[in-house]
Amino acid sequence: MKPILWITFYLPNDLAERLKPYVTIKMWQDDIHDMPQEEIEAAVLEADYLWTIVPNQITAAVLNRTTKLKMITNLAVGFNNIDVEAAKEKGIIVTNTPDVLSETTADLAFALLMTSARRMLDNAKQLYQGKWLGWQVFGMTGTDVHHKTLGIIGMGAIGELVAKRASGFDMNVLYHNRSRKEEAEERYGVTYRSKNDLLAEADFIIVLTPLTKETHHLIDREALAMMKRTAHIINVARGGVVDEEALYDALVNGEIAGAASDVFVEEPVSTNHPLLSLPNFTPMPHIGSATVETRQAMVQRNLDAWEAYFTNQSIPYRVI
Ligand code: DGY
Repeated sequence: MKPILWITFYLPNDLAERLKPYVTIKMWQDDIHDMPQEEIEAAVLEADYLWTIVPNQITAAVLNRTTKLKMITNLAVGFNNIDVEAAKEKGIIVTNTPDVLSETTADLAFALLMTSARRMLDNAKQLYQGKWLGWQVFGMTGTDVHHKTLGIIGMGAIGELVAKRASGFDMNVLYHNRSRKEEAEERYGVTYRSKNDLLAEADFIIVLTPLTKETHHLIDREALAMMKRTAHIINVARGGVVDEEALYDALVNGEIAGAASDVFVEEPVSTNHPLLSLPNFTPMPHIGSATVETRQAMVQRNLDAWEAYFTNQSIPYRVI
Protein backbone atom coordinates (compact mmCIF):
# COMPACT_ATOMS: atom_id res chain seq x y z
CA MET A 1 0.00 0.00 0.00
CA LYS A 2 1.25 3.43 -0.93
CA PRO A 3 1.64 6.08 1.77
CA ILE A 4 -1.06 8.76 2.04
CA LEU A 5 -0.60 12.37 1.05
CA TRP A 6 -3.44 14.46 2.46
CA ILE A 7 -3.98 17.72 0.56
CA THR A 8 -5.99 19.80 3.03
CA PHE A 9 -7.36 22.19 0.41
CA TYR A 10 -8.81 21.85 -3.07
CA LEU A 11 -6.14 21.70 -5.76
CA PRO A 12 -7.78 21.78 -9.21
CA ASN A 13 -6.78 20.40 -12.60
CA ASP A 14 -4.95 17.32 -11.42
CA LEU A 15 -2.00 19.48 -10.44
CA ALA A 16 -0.85 16.78 -8.07
CA GLU A 17 -0.96 14.13 -10.83
CA ARG A 18 2.80 13.71 -10.96
CA LEU A 19 2.86 12.63 -7.31
CA LYS A 20 0.55 9.69 -7.96
CA PRO A 21 3.37 7.18 -8.60
CA TYR A 22 4.56 7.77 -5.04
CA VAL A 23 1.45 8.25 -2.93
CA THR A 24 -2.27 7.76 -2.59
CA ILE A 25 -3.72 11.24 -2.69
CA LYS A 26 -6.60 12.30 -0.47
CA MET A 27 -7.90 15.81 -0.98
CA TRP A 28 -10.39 18.23 0.59
CA GLN A 29 -13.03 18.51 -2.14
CA ASP A 30 -14.66 21.86 -1.32
CA ASP A 31 -13.10 24.64 -3.37
CA ILE A 32 -14.98 27.40 -1.52
CA HIS A 33 -14.71 26.57 2.16
CA ASP A 34 -11.52 25.84 4.08
CA MET A 35 -11.18 22.39 5.60
CA PRO A 36 -12.55 22.55 9.16
CA GLN A 37 -10.07 21.99 11.95
CA GLU A 38 -11.76 18.80 13.18
CA GLU A 39 -11.44 17.32 9.66
CA ILE A 40 -7.75 18.22 9.65
CA GLU A 41 -7.36 16.52 13.01
CA ALA A 42 -8.95 13.38 11.55
CA ALA A 43 -6.88 13.54 8.35
CA VAL A 44 -3.61 13.82 10.25
CA LEU A 45 -4.24 10.42 11.85
CA GLU A 46 -3.95 8.66 8.49
CA ALA A 47 -1.56 11.03 6.69
CA ASP A 48 2.06 10.16 5.99
CA TYR A 49 2.39 13.53 4.29
CA LEU A 50 0.42 16.78 4.48
CA TRP A 51 0.08 19.56 1.93
CA THR A 52 -1.43 22.57 3.67
CA ILE A 53 -2.47 26.20 3.27
CA VAL A 54 -2.33 29.11 5.73
CA PRO A 55 -5.89 28.70 7.10
CA ASN A 56 -5.01 25.15 8.27
CA GLN A 57 -3.75 25.31 11.85
CA ILE A 58 -1.07 22.65 12.23
CA THR A 59 -0.51 23.13 15.93
CA ALA A 60 1.55 21.04 18.35
CA ALA A 61 -1.72 19.39 19.44
CA VAL A 62 -2.46 18.38 15.83
CA LEU A 63 1.09 17.09 15.32
CA ASN A 64 0.95 15.15 18.57
CA ARG A 65 -1.89 13.06 17.15
CA THR A 66 0.49 11.34 14.73
CA THR A 67 3.68 9.36 14.80
CA LYS A 68 3.83 8.67 11.08
CA LEU A 69 3.73 12.13 9.54
CA LYS A 70 7.02 12.79 7.77
CA MET A 71 6.69 15.98 5.78
CA ILE A 72 4.45 19.04 5.36
CA THR A 73 4.56 21.44 2.43
CA ASN A 74 2.76 24.76 3.01
CA LEU A 75 1.39 26.58 -0.02
CA ALA A 76 2.64 29.96 1.23
CA VAL A 77 5.83 31.74 2.07
CA GLY A 78 4.54 32.40 5.61
CA PHE A 79 4.31 29.40 7.92
CA ASN A 80 2.87 30.85 11.13
CA ASN A 81 0.05 28.29 10.79
CA ILE A 82 2.50 25.47 11.50
CA ASP A 83 4.16 24.91 14.86
CA VAL A 84 7.60 24.40 13.35
CA GLU A 85 9.24 23.83 16.74
CA ALA A 86 6.86 20.94 17.42
CA ALA A 87 7.43 19.63 13.89
CA LYS A 88 11.19 19.81 14.36
CA GLU A 89 11.01 17.88 17.61
CA LYS A 90 9.10 15.14 15.82
CA GLY A 91 11.55 15.14 12.88
CA ILE A 92 8.89 16.35 10.43
CA ILE A 93 10.22 18.28 7.43
CA VAL A 94 8.41 21.54 6.59
CA THR A 95 8.76 23.43 3.31
CA ASN A 96 7.29 26.69 1.99
CA THR A 97 7.21 28.72 -1.26
CA PRO A 98 9.89 31.43 -1.03
CA ASP A 99 10.77 34.04 -3.69
CA VAL A 100 7.94 33.40 -6.16
CA LEU A 101 5.33 35.68 -4.60
CA SER A 102 7.34 38.75 -3.59
CA GLU A 103 6.66 40.81 -6.74
CA THR A 104 2.96 39.99 -6.74
CA THR A 105 2.55 40.79 -3.05
CA ALA A 106 4.52 44.03 -3.45
CA ASP A 107 2.10 44.97 -6.24
CA LEU A 108 -0.86 44.45 -3.93
CA ALA A 109 0.79 46.36 -1.08
CA PHE A 110 1.32 49.31 -3.37
CA ALA A 111 -2.19 49.02 -4.81
CA LEU A 112 -3.64 49.16 -1.29
CA LEU A 113 -1.49 52.18 -0.48
CA MET A 114 -2.88 53.93 -3.58
CA THR A 115 -6.43 52.79 -2.79
CA SER A 116 -6.29 54.18 0.73
CA ALA A 117 -4.55 57.42 -0.28
CA ARG A 118 -7.02 58.22 -3.06
CA ARG A 119 -10.05 56.85 -1.18
CA MET A 120 -10.74 54.62 -4.17
CA LEU A 121 -12.99 52.13 -2.38
CA ASP A 122 -15.09 54.80 -0.70
CA ASN A 123 -15.36 56.80 -3.93
CA ALA A 124 -16.38 53.72 -5.92
CA LYS A 125 -19.01 52.91 -3.27
CA GLN A 126 -20.42 56.41 -3.63
CA LEU A 127 -20.63 55.96 -7.39
CA TYR A 128 -22.45 52.62 -7.02
CA GLN A 129 -24.85 54.19 -4.53
CA GLY A 130 -25.77 56.98 -6.95
CA LYS A 131 -24.01 59.59 -4.79
CA TRP A 132 -21.82 60.88 -7.61
CA LEU A 133 -23.93 63.90 -8.38
CA GLY A 134 -21.42 66.27 -9.89
CA TRP A 135 -17.83 67.44 -9.97
CA GLN A 136 -16.84 69.01 -6.66
CA VAL A 137 -13.64 70.93 -6.08
CA PHE A 138 -12.80 69.20 -2.82
CA GLY A 139 -15.28 66.33 -2.82
CA MET A 140 -13.88 62.80 -3.10
CA THR A 141 -10.34 64.08 -2.70
CA GLY A 142 -7.64 61.94 -1.20
CA THR A 143 -4.00 62.70 -0.64
CA ASP A 144 -0.92 62.54 -2.88
CA VAL A 145 1.38 59.54 -2.83
CA HIS A 146 4.21 60.92 -4.95
CA HIS A 147 7.02 62.70 -3.09
CA LYS A 148 5.67 61.54 0.28
CA THR A 149 7.48 59.46 2.90
CA LEU A 150 6.88 55.72 2.97
CA GLY A 151 7.85 53.64 6.00
CA ILE A 152 8.31 49.91 5.48
CA ILE A 153 8.23 47.76 8.60
CA GLY A 154 9.83 44.40 7.81
CA MET A 155 12.43 44.72 5.08
CA GLY A 156 12.52 41.29 3.49
CA ALA A 157 12.16 40.47 -0.21
CA ILE A 158 8.67 41.98 -0.44
CA GLY A 159 9.77 45.14 1.39
CA GLU A 160 12.60 45.68 -1.07
CA LEU A 161 10.24 45.33 -4.02
CA VAL A 162 7.80 47.79 -2.44
CA ALA A 163 10.72 50.23 -2.06
CA LYS A 164 11.53 49.73 -5.73
CA ARG A 165 7.95 50.62 -6.68
CA ALA A 166 8.00 53.63 -4.36
CA SER A 167 11.08 55.02 -6.08
CA GLY A 168 8.99 55.39 -9.25
CA PHE A 169 6.73 57.68 -7.25
CA ASP A 170 9.69 59.75 -6.03
CA MET A 171 8.94 58.71 -2.48
CA ASN A 172 11.34 59.05 0.39
CA VAL A 173 11.56 55.51 1.75
CA LEU A 174 12.35 54.65 5.37
CA TYR A 175 12.45 51.16 6.76
CA HIS A 176 12.56 49.38 10.07
CA ASN A 177 13.81 45.84 10.43
CA ARG A 178 15.33 43.66 13.15
CA SER A 179 18.67 44.07 11.43
CA ARG A 180 20.04 46.77 9.14
CA LYS A 181 19.88 45.95 5.42
CA GLU A 182 22.91 47.75 4.01
CA GLU A 183 22.56 46.18 0.57
CA ALA A 184 18.94 47.30 0.27
CA GLU A 185 19.94 50.77 1.50
CA GLU A 186 22.40 51.01 -1.33
CA ARG A 187 20.27 49.41 -4.01
CA TYR A 188 16.97 51.17 -3.30
CA GLY A 189 18.09 54.30 -1.48
CA VAL A 190 16.13 53.40 1.65
CA THR A 191 17.03 54.76 5.08
CA TYR A 192 16.93 52.87 8.38
CA ARG A 193 14.87 54.29 11.25
CA SER A 194 13.95 53.06 14.69
CA LYS A 195 10.36 51.88 14.82
CA ASN A 196 9.21 54.98 16.71
CA ASP A 197 10.99 57.41 14.38
CA LEU A 198 9.52 55.67 11.34
CA LEU A 199 6.02 55.81 12.86
CA ALA A 200 6.38 59.54 13.51
CA GLU A 201 7.86 60.47 10.13
CA ALA A 202 6.02 58.34 7.57
CA ASP A 203 3.00 59.44 5.55
CA PHE A 204 2.34 55.83 4.60
CA ILE A 205 3.36 52.72 6.50
CA ILE A 206 3.38 49.24 5.00
CA VAL A 207 3.65 46.36 7.47
CA LEU A 208 5.35 43.25 6.10
CA THR A 209 6.70 41.30 9.08
CA PRO A 210 5.93 37.64 9.66
CA LEU A 211 3.63 36.93 12.62
CA THR A 212 5.67 35.71 15.58
CA LYS A 213 5.47 36.15 19.36
CA GLU A 214 7.62 39.26 18.93
CA THR A 215 5.53 40.85 16.17
CA HIS A 216 2.10 40.14 17.65
CA HIS A 217 0.48 43.60 18.03
CA LEU A 218 3.67 45.25 16.81
CA ILE A 219 1.31 48.01 15.74
CA ASP A 220 -0.63 48.57 18.93
CA ARG A 221 -2.49 51.57 20.37
CA GLU A 222 0.75 53.27 21.34
CA ALA A 223 2.28 52.81 17.89
CA LEU A 224 -0.83 54.15 16.15
CA ALA A 225 -0.76 57.19 18.44
CA MET A 226 2.75 58.00 17.23
CA MET A 227 1.64 58.23 13.59
CA LYS A 228 0.73 61.48 11.87
CA ARG A 229 -2.99 62.25 11.85
CA THR A 230 -2.71 62.37 8.03
CA ALA A 231 -0.96 59.00 7.75
CA HIS A 232 -2.22 55.69 6.32
CA ILE A 233 -1.22 52.20 7.40
CA ILE A 234 -1.33 49.12 5.17
CA ASN A 235 -1.10 45.57 6.53
CA VAL A 236 -0.07 42.93 4.01
CA ALA A 237 1.61 40.75 6.64
CA ARG A 238 -0.69 38.79 8.92
CA GLY A 239 -3.72 39.60 11.04
CA GLY A 240 -2.49 40.01 14.59
CA VAL A 241 0.55 42.09 13.67
CA VAL A 242 -1.77 45.12 13.82
CA ASP A 243 -4.12 45.35 16.83
CA GLU A 244 -7.50 45.49 15.07
CA GLU A 245 -9.37 47.08 17.99
CA ALA A 246 -6.76 49.80 18.38
CA LEU A 247 -6.81 50.37 14.60
CA TYR A 248 -10.58 50.78 14.65
CA ASP A 249 -10.35 53.37 17.44
CA ALA A 250 -7.54 55.26 15.68
CA LEU A 251 -9.56 55.44 12.43
CA VAL A 252 -12.80 56.47 14.15
CA ASN A 253 -11.09 59.08 16.31
CA GLY A 254 -9.15 60.57 13.41
CA GLU A 255 -5.80 59.68 14.96
CA ILE A 256 -4.77 58.42 11.52
CA ALA A 257 -6.32 59.12 8.12
CA GLY A 258 -6.78 55.68 6.63
CA ALA A 259 -5.86 52.02 6.63
CA ALA A 260 -6.03 48.98 4.41
CA SER A 261 -5.55 45.35 5.24
CA ASP A 262 -5.22 42.17 3.21
CA VAL A 263 -5.19 40.09 6.38
CA PHE A 264 -7.30 39.60 9.50
CA VAL A 265 -7.06 37.82 12.82
CA GLU A 266 -10.09 35.71 11.85
CA GLU A 267 -10.17 34.69 8.21
CA PRO A 268 -12.53 34.80 6.41
CA VAL A 269 -13.35 38.02 8.25
CA SER A 270 -16.96 38.44 9.39
CA THR A 271 -18.92 41.03 7.42
CA ASN A 272 -19.93 42.39 10.85
CA HIS A 273 -16.33 43.19 11.73
CA PRO A 274 -16.30 46.80 13.03
CA LEU A 275 -13.45 47.80 10.68
CA LEU A 276 -15.63 46.98 7.66
CA SER A 277 -18.08 49.71 8.63
CA LEU A 278 -15.49 52.47 8.23
CA PRO A 279 -15.20 54.54 5.03
CA ASN A 280 -11.48 55.06 5.61
CA PHE A 281 -10.67 51.36 5.81
CA THR A 282 -10.04 49.15 2.76
CA PRO A 283 -10.32 45.39 3.33
CA MET A 284 -9.03 42.70 0.99
CA PRO A 285 -9.65 38.94 1.33
CA HIS A 286 -6.00 37.83 1.72
CA ILE A 287 -5.14 38.10 -1.99
CA GLY A 288 -1.50 39.20 -1.71
CA SER A 289 -0.23 36.32 -3.83
CA ALA A 290 -3.46 35.74 -5.74
CA THR A 291 -2.53 35.87 -9.41
CA VAL A 292 -2.73 32.82 -11.65
CA GLU A 293 0.96 33.02 -12.48
CA THR A 294 2.07 33.30 -8.88
CA ARG A 295 -0.24 30.61 -7.54
CA GLN A 296 1.03 28.26 -10.26
CA ALA A 297 4.61 29.04 -9.26
CA MET A 298 3.77 28.42 -5.59
CA VAL A 299 2.23 25.03 -6.41
CA GLN A 300 5.33 24.24 -8.44
CA ARG A 301 7.59 25.00 -5.44
CA ASN A 302 5.66 22.53 -3.30
CA LEU A 303 5.61 19.91 -6.07
CA ASP A 304 9.37 20.25 -6.47
CA ALA A 305 9.82 19.65 -2.75
CA TRP A 306 7.61 16.54 -2.87
CA GLU A 307 9.36 15.11 -5.93
CA ALA A 308 12.75 15.71 -4.39
CA TYR A 309 11.63 13.88 -1.25
CA PHE A 310 10.14 10.94 -3.12
CA THR A 311 13.19 10.53 -5.34
CA ASN A 312 15.69 10.91 -2.50
CA GLN A 313 17.10 14.23 -3.73
CA SER A 314 17.98 17.14 -1.51
CA ILE A 315 14.70 18.87 -0.59
CA PRO A 316 14.40 22.51 -1.67
CA TYR A 317 12.55 25.31 0.18
CA ARG A 318 12.93 23.75 3.60
CA VAL A 319 11.89 25.79 6.59
CA ILE A 320 13.17 23.03 8.87
C1 DGY B 1 1.88 33.68 2.09
O1 DGY B 1 2.44 33.12 1.15
O2 DGY B 1 2.35 33.72 3.22
C2 DGY B 1 0.55 34.23 1.79
O3 DGY B 1 0.10 35.07 2.79
C3 DGY B 1 -0.40 33.09 1.59
O4 DGY B 1 -1.48 33.50 0.91
